[in-house]
Amino acid sequence: MKEKNWGQESDPDYQSTELPKKERGPSHRIERADVLKARNFLVETYQNQVKKGGQVTAEMAKTNLDHADRVAENARWIAQNEGLDIEMLELAATCHDCGKLKCGYRGGIDTFRHHITGAKMIYDFLQRLGKTPKVCDEVKNMVLAHSAIPFIKRWADDNEIGLPEPLTQEEFALRDADVLDQIDIWGFKKVVEIRQNHDSEFYEEDGGDIQKSIESALLTAQEAEKILRTETAKKIAAGYGKRLVRLLRKIQAPKVVDLKTWQESFQEFLDEEAKNRHQ
Ligand SMILES: [Fe+2]
Repeated sequence: MKEKNWGQESDPDYQSTELPKKERGPSHRIERADVLKARNFLVETYQNQVKKGGQVTAEMAKTNLDHADRVAENARWIAQNEGLDIEMLELAATCHDCGKLKCGYRGGIDTFRHHITGAKMIYDFLQRLGKTPKVCDEVKNMVLAHSAIPFIKRWADDNEIGLPEPLTQEEFALRDADVLDQIDIWGFKKVVEIRQNHDSEFYEEDGGDIQKSIESALLTAQEAEKILRTETAKKIAAGYGKRLVRLLRKIQAPKVVDLKTWQESFQEFLDEEAKNRHQ
């Protein structure tokens, strides 16, 4: 009997992932493995900014990676329930803020134009993975339209700059997945703490007052809820909203007077939640 050449190209079952792109042809869809590659791409992109030794810190990279992971999870739920392409949504969600951390920008964050640089970066990344121009374009357009949210729209209007709006179901789904995180308590915490950072362009708006930062984050969360399009996102928002209300009750003034007491109260809230779960 002729011996089977396991793993050799002469083996009829042989399927290499390493074949040159031209032999495999461009890929029409996003696979699960691509989502993992996209996560690695995001980590590398952020690490490169940290390595520059400028304003982007390792802590900022961690905060933004955590945000990307939560948005990817929201995107997965939305895609599953709305009948959309789960891998495509998840990949776009993972990388939607890949252009956000930037040395040279105030506080190391490009708030108002990161959707443009991010869209270009994700297009190039997908092209390197051998995706068809159609796939590259679809994901690029999703990333490009995710910044059409109230406070960025106000800035764009003030500066007479155009802001791409979501048009397709997938584009709305990504924006939903992203803004849902502003209602999630962890995303809420991210907004409060960005506003408390002296280097942030939002610091002056609240004058460093923690209660004002909490109010601003709450306004962001309320505005986020109003622009949700998918029914799944609205349902998720209801759950996030209830948890946020419980957190807000916990952190009421006068106990929270600065960043330190805010963080302590946030931790106490988590501890109480964990305790209640085990009762
Ligand atoms: Fe973003």
